Amino acid sequence: MPGPREGIHASDVVEGNAGPRGGVKALPGGAAGRDTIDQSSQDAGTTAKLSLRGVRKSFGDNIVLSGIDLDVAAGEMVCLIGASGSGKSTLLRCINQLEPIDDGVVLLDGQDISEPGLDLGPVRQRIGIVFQSYNLFPHMSALQNVLLAPRRVLRRDSTAEAEALFARFGLAAHMHKYPDQLSGGQQQRVAVIRALAMRPEMMLFDEITAALDPELVGEVLNVLRQLRAEGMTMILATHEMGFARELADRVCFMDGGVIVEQGPPERIFSAPELARTKEFLRSVLR
Ligand SMILES: Nc1ncnc2c1ncn2[C@@H]1O[C@H](COP(=O)(O)OP(=O)(O)O)[C@@H](O)[C@H]1O
Ligand SMILES: [Mg+2]
Repeated sequence: MPGPREGIHASDVVEGNAGPRGGVKALPGGAAGRDTIDQSSQDAGTTAKLSLRGVRKSFGDNIVLSGIDLDVAAGEMVCLIGASGSGKSTLLRCINQLEPIDDGVVLLDGQDISEPGLDLGPVRQRIGIVFQSYNLFPHMSALQNVLLAPRRVLRRDSTAEAEALFARFGLAAHMHKYPDQLSGGQQQRVAVIRALAMRPEMMLFDEITAALDPELVGEVLNVLRQLRAEGMTMILATHEMGFARELADRVCFMDGGVIVEQGPPERIFSAPELARTKEFLRSVLR
């Protein structure tokens, strides 16, 4: 008897995106009557950096992700928007395998990283994640915080590399300070540097400006701006709609554990097609 995860195989998706979800789909007959709209920005034929197919996740009886399909191209910035509880954080955690998925598949460069029993150390090194709470160790300087994981996990002294990261993100003057000597925005930038010190191939950001005072949000968003310009592949759960509109290559609106509508930010924000998307945007863009 096939197990629950055997319905979708890596080989179904690694052949580029020639399958039914690939490329930009024409919207047949307008949006009327459809309950999802998928305008992914992948060109047919290019292999995605990250692919999700049929990803499902429940906590007890609570179905949190009910069939997520998503392709992210190398260098693409995808923003996840949606009401609280719609599954954004769970989706990010399922991508880098902080949560095991119940069904479906997550492919990184075509490799199934959701396979049960896989060594997750390398996966978490390849896909960095930064959360709303930056959780720096208070008894260590910013630099020591950043050096910890590379030293423990990669067994590498990356002091020079870390110093370069501090310089690159405008924090060279602060790297020997302790977290309580830094503003929230500076601490969050240190948390981003800490993730980058693992040399990830892609990054996930979960509402990383949500806990910050408004005047500190900009400096953290600037780091993301810079990373995007440098070509980092990124997925952000964000409620910074202005930022998503300005910088995302694609915006995915989540509701009830599915991506109900996705497309270029211009279209999603100025001409959302589904009632659920319109309603959400009306509630946040006041
Ligand atoms: N570890 C967990 N255990 C039980 N329920 C969880 C857990 N993580 C998330 N959930 C539930 O999953 C749903 C989606 O949450 P979440 O992914 O955090 O959404 P969002 O980030 O969009 O606010 C919520 O109903 C939440 O209570
Ligand atoms: Mg969340």
